[in-house]
Amino acid sequence: MQFSTRTTAPGRMRAGCALVPVLAGKELTAGGKEIDAVHGGRLAKAIRSGDLPAKAGSTLLVQLDGHLPRVLLVAMGDAREATEKSFGEAVRGGLRAAGPLAADEAISLLHEAPVAGRDTGWKLRAQVLIGREIAYRFETLKTRRETQPVRPRRVVLPVQSAGMSAAVAQATAIANGVDMAKDLGNLPGNHCTPTYLAETARKMARELGLKVEVLDTRQMQALKMGALLSVARGSDQPPKLIVLRYQGAGAKQPPIALVGKGITFDTGGISLKPAAEMDEMKFDMCGAASVLGTMRAVAELGLKINLVVVVPTTENMPSGRATKPGDIVTSMSGQTVEILNTDAEGRLILCDALTYVQRFKPSTVVDVATLTGACVIALGHHHSGLFSPSDALAAELQDAGREIGDSCWRMPLDDEYQEQLKSPFADVANIGGRPAGSVTAACFLSRFAKGYDWAHLDIAGTAWKSGANKGASGRPVPLLANFLLARAKG
Ligand code: BES
Ligand code: MN
Ligand code: ZN
Repeated sequence: MQFSTRTTAPGRMRAGCALVPVLAGKELTAGGKEIDAVHGGRLAKAIRSGDLPAKAGSTLLVQLDGHLPRVLLVAMGDAREATEKSFGEAVRGGLRAAGPLAADEAISLLHEAPVAGRDTGWKLRAQVLIGREIAYRFETLKTRRETQPVRPRRVVLPVQSAGMSAAVAQATAIANGVDMAKDLGNLPGNHCTPTYLAETARKMARELGLKVEVLDTRQMQALKMGALLSVARGSDQPPKLIVLRYQGAGAKQPPIALVGKGITFDTGGISLKPAAEMDEMKFDMCGAASVLGTMRAVAELGLKINLVVVVPTTENMPSGRATKPGDIVTSMSGQTVEILNTDAEGRLILCDALTYVQRFKPSTVVDVATLTGACVIALGHHHSGLFSPSDALAAELQDAGREIGDSCWRMPLDDEYQEQLKSPFADVANIGGRPAGSVTAACFLSRFAKGYDWAHLDIAGTAWKSGANKGASGRPVPLLANFLLARAKG
């Protein structure tokens, strides 16, 4: 589904279908009235028929003629002003209802409907992101296509000024990043290996003109990344450390760094996970997928920032060579870690990556990880968990997420919790017991996140959906991209 803007008056536009908002069950917007006038009041008549329920997302098809053969009236809800939620429902309902129609190109006037506290740019972006979400398919591993081709293929958004096309360009780049993150997340572990992720990064670097470097086992040994390497020991797949660099600002400006957990399959290792739903542990690289997707969005938009993306990636497997509970390893930072549970592997690969990024002298580092089941228990599937010692950075990330419908909720990170990580034999243990499991995981990371402003996003509950329609969500690409867009402006 491709979105574009046009400054032509809605009444004069030519398309197979138009999505026209109806406010409070009865009222047309300016563009809707224009179309109604050109077509002899047929829209007003259809509304008077009472066949369109006011509930946001309800639709009524009206057959017209000439340069506009049909209109889908889309109810925006009971109130004259939509909420963010009801606007989203209306857009989803309208675009879904347009799917079966024989129209390749649609125009949408839905952004003419008022939304409390939101401007036209926000409404345009929301339409693009929702449309692209509806259009997403992952069928590359099916031999036969199961779903109908996506319709409408093109959606034109009539706007007052040409400047509005920037909002559509932003949302399109973000949607491209989301799609990339979904594709990588949905690919199973036998396809999406650390080597595959590295190849994907190389390809993206070629396409978008980024610097790329992929460190192999020997280079990681030379850097003394004992924590990362301890996770890779049980696997026959070689681990990688992927580094992508984008320069959109002066070379002197310190970069922002994003670090993504890239466990391409998490069996738990010797602390083996139970069999039920273990397939979902192919999603354990969704942090990596999201930072790669965000890099795509940033590079496509040519944002005026410097960005470094670092992805430590490996499988977590049991084997005769695998790390055992009780083993003690030395991390790149020099701190020793007692590995009491080999299933707490995310923090082990991230801690060395957090030490490694120091060489880029970043101003800010955000790591993203499907880190703990405890985060799912704490927050469910709505908000990602946000941990940061910096109130300012936490607020920036919360605002960025809230604005784009990809929210995070701040969790505590007090020193009191560090006690739970005490080890009788090493500097730190890799688990802190059952209480506050997502907090002690963040506390573990905090010991390595030194020399820059830091935040950690635990996306265990938000990166994918379980059940019959299971699949990667692409989160938190919108949050991260929106955060970087704000940084590029500020
Ligand atoms: N990848 C998992 C976290 C996870 C579990 C994400 C379920 C989404 C759903 C992580 O590596 C893990 O296994 N964490 C353990 C930590 C524990 C051993 C301290 C967990 O959450 O059980
Ligand atoms: Mn694990
Ligand atoms: Zn994991």
